[in-house]
Amino acid sequence: MTQAELKAAAAQQAAQLVQPSMVLGVGTGSTVAYLIAALGKRRATGLTLAAVVTTSNRSKEQLDAVGFKVSPLAAVAQVDLTIDGSDRVAPNLDGIKGGGGALTLEKNVAVNSKRVVWIVDESKVVPRLGGFPLPVEVLPISCEQNFRRFEQEGLQPQYRLTPAGQRYVTHYGNYIIDLAIDPIPAPHGLAAYLDQLTGVVEHGLFLDICDEVIIAHRDGQIESRQK
Ligand code: 5RP
Repeated sequence: MTQAELKAAAAQQAAQLVQPSMVLGVGTGSTVAYLIAALGKRRATGLTLAAVVTTSNRSKEQLDAVGFKVSPLAAVAQVDLTIDGSDRVAPNLDGIKGGGGALTLEKNVAVNSKRVVWIVDESKVVPRLGGFPLPVEVLPISCEQNFRRFEQEGLQPQYRLTPAGQRYVTHYGNYIIDLAIDPIPAPHGLAAYLDQLTGVVEHGLFLDICDEVIIAHRDGQIESRQK
């Protein structure tokens, strides 16, 4: 199976977790695109939801196109279930997210959800958290100070750039600094360090957030790992 087929298989399994009348959170990325397509098919055969929130304009446009009305997170009391992709997943279901630059809204939706399910192909599963640049979203007003701080800490920062070589700008008008730490020796310690830095809006360490990961394996098996 190709990686695209694996992503589609994980997404189609996750689409079956969605129950009528739920408040549903829908993440961002190429795997989630398959989820939205599967949800569109379910909607065409009668699925109705209490509300749908999402984590990027890309997903919102796709949800709109298959007939779901998207609400802002602030308009719902709580999300019942959020399904999202992930860039890396460790055995304890901690993850690195933000490869698509949507980490701030992704984390806000996830922590306000009763249940969080990630859909991945097996290439995302790692024995220790790492293997992917850790995104840190920073305010432009103090980005240089935080960049130098990361350099001094040996975190090997790099501004994320667009294909045209410009600094990537998030939905909220911020920059992303990717840190090269592989593996991450103490994820909770690093998260606490980043959380207390002024000018850091959010980071891609998603710890103690995911409840279940659906993994599509190359041999065709679809595995569910639960917390
Ligand atoms: C976006 C994310 C995505 O969920 C993550 O990058 C996985 O994407 P894909 O399904 O395309 O591999 O965190 O910010």
